[in-house]
Amino acid sequence: MFHIAIISGSVRIGRESHKVSKYLERYIRENELATVEILDLKVFNFPIEEERLENLPAPAEEAKLFSEKIKAAHAVIVVSPEYNGGYPASVKNAIDLLVKEWYHKPIGLATVSGGNFGGVNAMALLQTVFLKIKAVPVPATFPVPLVQKNFNKEGEPADKAATDRRAGAFIKELLWFAEAFSKMQ
Ligand SMILES: Cc1cc2nc3c(=O)[nH]c(=O)nc-3n(C[C@H](O)[C@H](O)[C@H](O)COP(=O)(O)O)c2cc1C
Repeated sequence: MFHIAIISGSVRIGRESHKVSKYLERYIRENELATVEILDLKVFNFPIEEERLENLPAPAEEAKLFSEKIKAAHAVIVVSPEYNGGYPASVKNAIDLLVKEWYHKPIGLATVSGGNFGGVNAMALLQTVFLKIKAVPVPATFPVPLVQKNFNKEGEPADKAATDRRAGAFIKELLWFAEAFSKMQ
């Protein structure tokens, strides 16, 4: 069985997008699609990067753990909020910490916004950044608009059937890439 790491990108007080991370984790687990773990950037609490991990003289244990978890995952889902038409510093900080860990890693992008457009601006920027670092953002994406309305306090989607259908297609494609790439290792 493949292993998916979900990076939960918002460290904001009262964050909403963490619900989407938890929903995707639950969906993958309940449907036995893969093993799965959330890597919560609020818990990792990385300082602003002074250097890439591989060049740090005394890297923090959290940074080494994050590196190991990304290395071990067959695919990574990045749940990122959209802030001011981009993604937050917390997400870029975590991406820039690593180098080789990202090579040829299939990336599923789930962007989350308070507005109507599901974070499509952050999505486009993340696709560019991940390609630049030689990861592979897969064509299927999981944008979530109006997150406060579309997910309740318990993290359940308001329209469960439609959301599950979208999540299913998203994860199916991510796993397709994970399987294809595993044959090339
Ligand atoms: C600094 C900041 C800027 C934001 N800019 C946008 C934006 O450009 N477009 C949008 O739809 N929502 C925007 N939002 C709302 C977030 O998308 C919203 O809080 C959403 O829940 C995802 O972020 P969260 O996980 O931190 O809650 C912004 C929120 C913050 C805190």
